[in-house]
Amino acid sequence: MQPWSFIHITDIHVGSPRSFRYAPAWNENWQSAQQQMLDIQPDLLLIGGDIARDGLIHRFELENIKQDLDALPFPYHVIPGNMDIGNKKTQVAGPRRDDVSLNVQLEALEQFQEVFGALWWRTEHRNIRFSGFCDILINSGLPLEQDLWDWMEAQKVLPPEQHHVWLMHYALFVDTPEEPNFDIASKETYHDWYFGIDEPGRSRLYEVFKNTQADIVLSGHIHCRKYQQTDGIRFYKGPATSFPQWPDRWPDGDATLGFQHFNVTDDGIEYTFIPLNHVSSTKGYGPGGHPQPEERDYGLAWEK
Ligand SMILES: [Fe+2]
Repeated sequence: MQPWSFIHITDIHVGSPRSFRYAPAWNENWQSAQQQMLDIQPDLLLIGGDIARDGLIHRFELENIKQDLDALPFPYHVIPGNMDIGNKKTQVAGPRRDDVSLNVQLEALEQFQEVFGALWWRTEHRNIRFSGFCDILINSGLPLEQDLWDWMEAQKVLPPEQHHVWLMHYALFVDTPEEPNFDIASKETYHDWYFGIDEPGRSRLYEVFKNTQADIVLSGHIHCRKYQQTDGIRFYKGPATSFPQWPDRWPDGDATLGFQHFNVTDDGIEYTFIPLNHVSSTKGYGPGGHPQPEERDYGLAWEK
């Protein structure tokens, strides 16, 4: 077989100077990443969510980044992140913010779907099956969640390809698949809660991965690169291109900005981390985090 390759990029957070907040550095990092991907010329690109800074609030941000992606000379497949459609569901607020008000909403899911198409998909390329899905629906109780599980279960009976790569936004787990649900209400475990998938959905997803001969599971959201392997499945928590987070959570975590490149040969799928060759420090404006509507000051916008 002729060797070929694919790229996983995630948490690019491309924003707009028409917004109440804007980090031009993140847009410039995306420009650098695009150039580096063009130099590599992969067969295809997987985009792991958080593609816009505030896609949930501004449809035009989703449409803007789609224009960039459509101009790439290779096909891409995208799943939504929490800044695109809302966070995983909770009924309890955390110590830092009103998490319940940030829960995933049907309107945002529909908006994402209108711009980018299906919220879950499967595609085969050469000897690999790629399956991507909107993991934020897991444990949400929204009617769409049942449709997603029906699709997941149907994956189990497909004739296997040589390799199977899954794509999600949240990490399936922080440390191990068997870890208990973390306490959202505790300052010490809030971030562990925020970055992973809760039970009961976590175990059910893990069973699906095992029963669909998953080789690799790719995720984002954390903005810190970390590798784990369990039951023969390789879990790659991906780096961001926008900004680093959680650099000290694991001794071998690496929050360096960049993306992940996978070379496919007769020997298997070989991993390379590609750091950004230029990290921008251009200053922008506006608040971080998840500001409530009354905290969004469009008077700050550089473009009216
Ligand atoms: Fe992100």
